[in-house]
Amino acid sequence: MKHYLTTDDIENLPKTIADAIALKQAPYKFEQLGKHKTLGMLFFNSSLRTRLSTQKAAMQLGMQVMVMNFSGEAWSLEFEDGSVMNGSTSEHIREAAAVISQYCDIIAVRAFPTLTDKQKDENEYVLKSFQKYASVPIINMESATGHPLQALTDAITITEQRTREKPKVVLSWAPHPKALPHAVANSFTSIMQKMDADFVITHPEGYELNPEVTGDTPIIYNQDEALKDADFVYVKSWSSYRDYGKVLHTDPNWRITADKMALTNNGKFMHCLPVRRNIIVDDAVLDSPQSIVIPQANNRTFAAQVVLKQILESI
Ligand code: CP
Repeated sequence: MKHYLTTDDIENLPKTIADAIALKQAPYKFEQLGKHKTLGMLFFNSSLRTRLSTQKAAMQLGMQVMVMNFSGEAWSLEFEDGSVMNGSTSEHIREAAAVISQYCDIIAVRAFPTLTDKQKDENEYVLKSFQKYASVPIINMESATGHPLQALTDAITITEQRTREKPKVVLSWAPHPKALPHAVANSFTSIMQKMDADFVITHPEGYELNPEVTGDTPIIYNQDEALKDADFVYVKSWSSYRDYGKVLHTDPNWRITADKMALTNNGKFMHCLPVRRNIIVDDAVLDSPQSIVIPQANNRTFAAQVVLKQILESI
């Protein structure tokens, strides 16, 4: 693996999942692999899981880790080529990426979308600029349109917890007061399309994801119908893609309740976290044995570790 920008960078998904599960049993087996190698983690947005699990994964591989938060710590970056930098930005990505590449063997970047400038977001201007101007591998720690570390985590979790060879997996939209990105839903959809799963998406009309991402995946506008016989219920809120970045409504009938989970095949509740209790999902579900959000979050470490391992083996 040269970079990990999208789930398409995983060459062999079943093997990668199996390797991640094996790392869980022996997390320090490859601690010599990252010796004298440095991971630089650059955050343009907040994080709990991604920051800590990726750092832990790197440390378990023997790497050293440097973290920088761009809001408040670093110079504000300019991404436009040819710009006259007489405004608020102080340093161009060309210099910044080249300099960081001298300090780090791998650079991981988190940069959320604007949700106001669709073209800029679709072009992944932050992530792609690092890829263009850095001379070392880049890992996507959640970008404008994707969260591939989360998606690999979710594929590992479903593989571990499934009780039938081809589980039914439902991605359900949920209400949220704020406009949220499409990244988690996009990457989850992409990786489920590569898995042996009966995968469907349910959301209210108007919340369709990018059709280039959903492709042939069935979309069911009736949530109760979609949840029937589900083995996994993956819940996420996102803003409208068509009416870009808008919250069209926050219909509370889409919140996941115990009654909705009762429609499933004793289905497992999944969420990438953080989750707003009693907005996205009721306490009764999140605190029930059906919820697997905590072991799911634990798998963030092993998803990051298997990706770092594959990149370290290629450099
Ligand atoms: N799921 C996830 O990416 O969590 P953080 O935003 O806390 O990193």
